[in-house]
Amino acid sequence: MEKQTLDNYNLKFAGSSPRDILDYFLKKYRNELAFSTSFGAEDQVITQIISSTGKNAGIFTLDTGRMFPETYEVMEKTISRYKINIQTYFPDQEKVEKMVNTHGINLFYRSVENRKLCCSIRKTEQLHRALKGKKAWVTGLRKEQSVTRKNMQIAEWDDAFGLLKINPLCYWTEEQVWNYIREHNIPYNKLHDKGFRSIGCQPCTMAVEVGEDVRAGRWWWENPESKECGLHVR
Ligand code: ADX
Ligand code: SF4
Repeated sequence: MEKQTLDNYNLKFAGSSPRDILDYFLKKYRNELAFSTSFGAEDQVITQIISSTGKNAGIFTLDTGRMFPETYEVMEKTISRYKINIQTYFPDQEKVEKMVNTHGINLFYRSVENRKLCCSIRKTEQLHRALKGKKAWVTGLRKEQSVTRKNMQIAEWDDAFGLLKINPLCYWTEEQVWNYIREHNIPYNKLHDKGFRSIGCQPCTMAVEVGEDVRAGRWWWENPESKECGLHVR
């Protein structure tokens, strides 16, 4: 995709609501668009908007095998509330077995290298399967979430997957996300009520203190600059 096209999208949608952005791209890409959800607060907003348009976006989730029970609870609730299908992708069994049998079940605490290996085997590899044949990928990323995300835009070209990445909540604050959730009575992960602000795998996620970064509880033993799992490389 040409840089000019991306610039045009970013200019066109700079002041638009997430709903308008989603409407446009859902119409444009139809079944060549997919939305990835980990059932975090932002993802729940997007799921509600997509469901309300009546369009059938390919909604999927990557199950790493190390998720919280609360995440499965909100997954079930979301599916029954919005009467939607959410395609679940699991990691390759042989690769997980080899990794665990070689490095141990909790290898990620020992080095960034081990952590990235686990994230790639348990999470990123399925993403390649999930996005196969797609031209556009919607995510719940927000600029404010971390230092690694401050340069992101609404429309980006994703080199790793060779497609257009759309981040409708790019400019939203955490407060806007929660106001929307309350206003529309959207189901959310109960861990959010216990101080969890960004939720990933159970062994790699902690609650955070008031005043800390939203993602301070993710891979908390690492530097903020290295805290991306390979789903979102830029
Ligand atoms: S992560 O890369 O650190 O895990 P984060 O939890 O902030 O990402 O979520 C950002 C976006 O990445 C989500 O809005 C969602 O689109 C996508 N994402 C993250 N984890 C998953 C997952 N397990 N399954 C599907 N999508 C995910
Ligand atoms: Fe593995 Fe932790 Fe990454 Fe989950 S977040 S895939 S458990 S390293």
